[in-house]
Amino acid sequence: MIVLGIETSCDETSAALVKDGRLVLSNIIASQTEIHAPYGGVVPEIAARRHIEVIGYIVDRALDDAGLNLSDIDGIAVANGPGLTGALLVGLNYAKALSYANKKPLVGVHHIEGHVCANYLGGDLTPPFLSLVVSGGHTVILAVEGYDTYKVLGSTRDDAAGEAFDKVARLLGLGYPGGPIIDKLAREGRADAYPFPRAKVDGLDFSFSGLKTAVSQAINGTANATARYTKARKPKPDIAPSQDISTADIAASFQQAVVDVLVDKTLKACKQVGYSQVALAGGVACNHGLRSTMQAACDASGVELFMPQPIYCTDNAAMIAARGYYSLINGVVDGLELNAYSNKLV
Ligand code: KG4
Ligand code: ZN
Repeated sequence: MIVLGIETSCDETSAALVKDGRLVLSNIIASQTEIHAPYGGVVPEIAARRHIEVIGYIVDRALDDAGLNLSDIDGIAVANGPGLTGALLVGLNYAKALSYANKKPLVGVHHIEGHVCANYLGGDLTPPFLSLVVSGGHTVILAVEGYDTYKVLGSTRDDAAGEAFDKVARLLGLGYPGGPIIDKLAREGRADAYPFPRAKVDGLDFSFSGLKTAVSQAINGTANATARYTKARKPKPDIAPSQDISTADIAASFQQAVVDVLVDKTLKACKQVGYSQVALAGGVACNHGLRSTMQAACDASGVELFMPQPIYCTDNAAMIAARGYYSLINGVVDGLELNAYSNKLV
């Protein structure tokens, strides 16, 4: 079964063709990062307008890349939430029109479940397994009991992990999106330079807002120290804060604080449900610190770890097609009344 996937939930316009939920035939992604960068975040209205401009071209490119026509596909899967409503509606309406005009079954896909299914692409992972989904909008631990059964075990009470990366990058004046920049900078810093807090939240939930405040205080402390040092006009190179060194140290210490909590709770959850497989998903799953620390922790606990290639961690339509496949093979289809929604945890 060949499924056309369509994804427009945030600032990536993507279309993909995936065979039997596993084999990627094409995966085209048009990123709007440069358009939103001057604003320090995604501007919903601009995102929706840009999706409209490129969606037709992106779907055509995906078909061309796979060497297929619309008549060759067996169904259409589209992300219809959670996400930016205006952005989602572009992909959803395009998918509905294609479905109606070409008489192809349509199915709406939950964006977070799509992220989880990125682990099926080119791999042999099968449920049950535990999944940690860490993206710009969500931080959630899921028990994936079957291809169609997702149970939320824990989620964030405030900021998502990716959101924390983006906000800390903004505090450090590093640009947008902050995750990849902090990831790179952290490799040059000392992860134990700043003892940032590991939020103690009950159960399997997360909280990252206190950590963001602690980073902000550390940055202000550095700025104050720089100001005091300049005022005193007594050069003391051994104690003078070097902006470069402290920025890398802050990035490394912040990243480690996020990673420690994510790894700790994921392994706790895994033990709780008694699964032997863990799958990472979402944009933050690209993070080198998270990937290596999670790998070491899983190895030490005898748990098998699955991680999608980075291109399938951030938003893409191949993961949406993979999720849609497991609905379509069970005869699950949606009608033209299918709507978009902004928020819902699976
Ligand atoms: O999954 P995604 O593409 O979109 C959402 O569904 O939100 O995730 C985007 C998020 C952004 O917050 C971005 O900063 C973060 O993923 N991200 C990273 C890395 N690459 C992307 N965070 C940490 N380290 C990275 N290497
Ligand atoms: Zn996403």
